[in-house]
Amino acid sequence: MTGELKFKDKVVIVTGAGGGLGKIYALEFAARGAKVVVNDLGGSSTGEGASSKAADVVVNEIKSKGGVAVANYDSVEDGEKIVATAMNNFGRVDILINNAGILRDVSFGKMTDQDWDLVYRVHMKGAYKLTRAVWNHMRDNKFGRVVMTSSAAGLYGNFGQANYGAQKMALVGFANTLAQEGKARNVNVNTIAPVAASRLTESVMPPDLLQQLKPEYIVPLVLYLCHEDTQETGSVFEVGAGWVSKVRLQRSSGVYIKDITAEKIKENWAGIENFDKPQYPTSASDSVSGILSAVSSQPATSAPLHRKPSTSAPT
Ligand code: NAI
Repeated sequence: MTGELKFKDKVVIVTGAGGGLGKIYALEFAARGAKVVVNDLGGSSTGEGASSKAADVVVNEIKSKGGVAVANYDSVEDGEKIVATAMNNFGRVDILINNAGILRDVSFGKMTDQDWDLVYRVHMKGAYKLTRAVWNHMRDNKFGRVVMTSSAAGLYGNFGQANYGAQKMALVGFANTLAQEGKARNVNVNTIAPVAASRLTESVMPPDLLQQLKPEYIVPLVLYLCHEDTQETGSVFEVGAGWVSKVRLQRSSGVYIKDITAEKIKENWAGIENFDKPQYPTSASDSVSGILSAVSSQPATSAPLHRKPSTSAPT
């Protein structure tokens, strides 16, 4: 039995912390000693309106239990203002939970630019703005923990959620690169795809199922990933109802086709999609070197395929 994971004096920003998962994260981090910025725009689940009430209720609850918290009512689109709230009140940021979210579900044929743009702005641009505003600060401090919130709709697709699924998968790509850039400075970035009862799911799941999907079941994984002793980075987890699973990309071992043509693709289709001997690349250079070594049947080149951003050509 290990000791309780404490967050004494760690400064945590939780976006969308006025309800749902974010509220439970904020309460639990505060209960374990963290100073929490409770951000919430307080609008509707489809991204309309704004109110200070949602964040205030959570801050008051934390304070009534003896915890430390401050409210912020800005949209995540203005992420730098949320980070300024943390800096002005607590002087630092250690942990960022990119959690705020909305839904604008509609089949793609009926999707408007507004449905697309709003979902992009809250999920992807919001996570970008917050993370950008804390990134160099965390790197300078040689400590940071960032959690992105993805979704099964992004990992696997879901009817009526082309806008949401696109942004939720974009967050995985964002986290994958940040994990590589942050690793040497102890800035770890992981992604969760939760499933939990909240206002976003109450209309699409039956009450007895929602009972099994308490937001409280998501919080322990987030706490673990954000603890200073945890070195995990660049990973994706599906989590819900007390179940936790790590997700990775798998590809078939592939087929080398000399003088490749569409007709030869057809002939080799069964081999292309044969997953008997799967491979699990964990970086872009890993991916390309695996292809080159399969083609040449020679050991993979040891030259790194990534380059410094300042010298890299557009790809
Ligand atoms: P929720 O609707 O209860 O909580 C989201 C919170 O974000 C709300 O309090 C809302 O006011 C806030 N918010 C929305 N737009 C904002 C903005 N522009 N700036 C600041 N705050 C804003 O929903 P839930 O379920 O707790 O969702 C949390 C995250 O988990 C979201 O990113 C959601 O997409 C994701 N998620 C949830 C799943 C579930 O089963 N509940 C499934 C997969 C992903």
